[in-house]
Amino acid sequence: MSDTIRQLAESLQQAEHVTVLTGSGISADSGVPTFRDPQEGLWAKYQPQDLASPDAFLKDPDFVWQWYQWRRKKVLSVEPNPGHKALAELAHSHPSLTLVTQNVDGLHQRAGHEDVIEFHGNIHRNLCLDNGHMMRVEDYPDKPPRCRICDSLVRPGVVWFGESIPETALSRSLAATRKAELFIAIGTSATVYPAASLADLAREHGATTAEINPQTSDMNTVDIAIRARAAEALPALLVAYQGR
Ligand code: APR
Repeated sequence: MSDTIRQLAESLQQAEHVTVLTGSGISADSGVPTFRDPQEGLWAKYQPQDLASPDAFLKDPDFVWQWYQWRRKKVLSVEPNPGHKALAELAHSHPSLTLVTQNVDGLHQRAGHEDVIEFHGNIHRNLCLDNGHMMRVEDYPDKPPRCRICDSLVRPGVVWFGESIPETALSRSLAATRKAELFIAIGTSATVYPAASLADLAREHGATTAEINPQTSDMNTVDIAIRARAAEALPALLVAYQGR
């Protein structure tokens, strides 16, 4: 791993603009199951795709809401891991590193990362179905509350399958990817679009592409492949980048 870490650190030092795309793999080291891991307990017999959709919510709002409550509690019960923290430190020390995350867990922010582009929203936010009124939801009701403004059902503030990416998140991600000289995918299977198309877009614009993942992913071409866990590779990358 040390050769590829050194190679990536050199690319980081040379790149004026860096774009990083993270997926659920970076949170795996905090104990948050990835999307392709089997689910736990009551949810074991469901695929996230069966629950994270507008149809699933409309069909059984209480059931889908309870899945999100379970996930929110799970995420709040864990801590950002050394991978999240090293990436936040890298962002503080590199002049232009843009983080795009597919994760909705908020762990990058809790690790000290300031400007996170949340491609799929954030599980700690809620909004109403009819008008998108943002709603603070205290404690953990086991049924979705109703909007205090228009009385429509309140849903989690995440992007569901079949829904479009929030406009600002999409435009900022595309702009950062187009101008990146280095694109690093961390902990993603690169199977869900449009996030999965960012690596090809970066490459089309001349970027070097890198991946940190113990397994291979659906990324078409990777110039620098670090086959390791994010919690192991990112702290090593930070040390190599800072020349310590
Ligand atoms: N460090 C780095 N990568 C890891 C680690 C780890 N410790 N553990 C697992 N991985 C890798 C796996 O090898 C896999 O390639 O993380 C990836 C996780 O892939 P997915 O579970 O498909 O998660 P992700 O790519 O984030 O899914 C994308 O799909 O379900 C939707 O909206 C959801 O944002 C999600 C999107």
